[in-house]
Amino acid sequence: MQTDSSFTFVLFGGTGDLSMRKILPALFEAHRAGGMLADSGKIVAVARHAANRDEYLQWVNEHVKPHVSKKAVDEAAWTSFLARIEFVKIDLGNPEDFVQLRDAVQDLPGIRVFYLATGPSLFVPICHALASVGLNENARIVLEKPLGYDLKSSNAINDAVGEIFAEEQIYRIDHYLGKEPVQNLLALRFGNALFEPLWRREWVESIQITIAEELGVEARGDFYDNTGALRDMVQNHLLQLLSIVAMEPPHSMDSDSVRDEKLRVLRALKPIDPRDIGKVAVRGQYHSGVIRGNSVPAYATEQGVKPDSSTETFVALKVEIENWRWAGVPFFLRTGKRLADRVAEIVVNFRAVPHSALGASALRAGANRLVIRLQPNESIRLYCLAKQPGEGMNLASVHLDLAFDQFFREGQMEAYQRLLLDVINGRLALFVRRDEQEAAWRWVEPILNEWQASIKPPKPYAAGTWGPAAASAMLAQHDTCWLEEEN
Ligand code: BG6
Repeated sequence: MQTDSSFTFVLFGGTGDLSMRKILPALFEAHRAGGMLADSGKIVAVARHAANRDEYLQWVNEHVKPHVSKKAVDEAAWTSFLARIEFVKIDLGNPEDFVQLRDAVQDLPGIRVFYLATGPSLFVPICHALASVGLNENARIVLEKPLGYDLKSSNAINDAVGEIFAEEQIYRIDHYLGKEPVQNLLALRFGNALFEPLWRREWVESIQITIAEELGVEARGDFYDNTGALRDMVQNHLLQLLSIVAMEPPHSMDSDSVRDEKLRVLRALKPIDPRDIGKVAVRGQYHSGVIRGNSVPAYATEQGVKPDSSTETFVALKVEIENWRWAGVPFFLRTGKRLADRVAEIVVNFRAVPHSALGASALRAGANRLVIRLQPNESIRLYCLAKQPGEGMNLASVHLDLAFDQFFREGQMEAYQRLLLDVINGRLALFVRRDEQEAAWRWVEPILNEWQASIKPPKPYAAGTWGPAAASAMLAQHDTCWLEEEN
């Protein structure tokens, strides 16, 4: 991908965790690849915790370099990358400091990108301060999640930012949309005629979408305890995946065609009746347990977490979509921390044959199943029944396997790298539009409210397992089970 679009990339929160682990490494990868970033493009880091550019570059050497790809760092590329970086020391609480930022960037070339890798409470003050020195013109602004805490607070941020930046200038990040396999899902669905006729209620029995993590809350206990899995993973990543799985074919891949179709799905989600929440939603919290041979502590004893916390670290939901394509097909969504494995996958269970001439074993729902593994080891696996060799007609499950790294050995791109290049090049398709975000908040809110008001604590599960038994019981009511429970 060759580009000549010059840019000035202003990174607020320049010494934060996200800058260290994701943003600066992704910019470095794009720089190293050559041809992706205009030579004249500059990165202007904004932070408080460094005195000057030299000190900041020292921090980058010490903290960012270890996070760039596993391959040995190309020293020449690293040195030329550092040459792109400028530094401005600003106290974000002090709007007058933004004059220095204006002075630093006003003669730099190209489109200005302001990346807010800060807490959401700073989004609005930063936007006001940018506008006060005229920096909102000819600019793009990138907002990291979490964008708000509920519909009301997210609207308040969007309203305030929207007074300063037009919607086409606003890039709301959901890094799942930048993942290669999620892009591939669009290719699978809309580049092949094969799946489309089957991708509907007549042929699909149920769909599961899982994002399971082995990690706990790490150093983010304080943030997480005020957030929980529903806000952290479901409102954004899981509902975005769901909308891509369920959307109608878009007219084109331009940003609004794709986002319009996703929005239609989000708006068609069957509203959850608070009286049914016990039947369609399971919340859990991990207790101590063992993961890959290591003992890990209970959530409630993690640093920053209240000992009597009722924050959920696990969510399983049954979701329905009220439209002709999907009416009556349950979508089971699940995410959790400290689960038995790190895996993100989509499982499409097809219906059983309507009549079997081959005996009862062919009448199994899910005998035909498509498993789209998003991470790790991206792959697509199509399960079928085949005759076992030998006498008689005995059927066994077999599968066709497509492991992407065997086909495409080079060229994989990290989510953040793709998304940052999209911002620099003005491509909005992989960013969440305000109306999508609102629809997602609106749908999750009854669950949030009910859980907040509930005196029942989340269901406990031992770390290293697949979550509370209630999540399995919910699927059993639909005569199905989670993929790992098969066999
Ligand atoms: C983030 C959440 O958005 O996604 C984290 O805040 C979570 O809690 C992370 O760990 C998972 O992302 P990935 O790319 O590691 O699956």
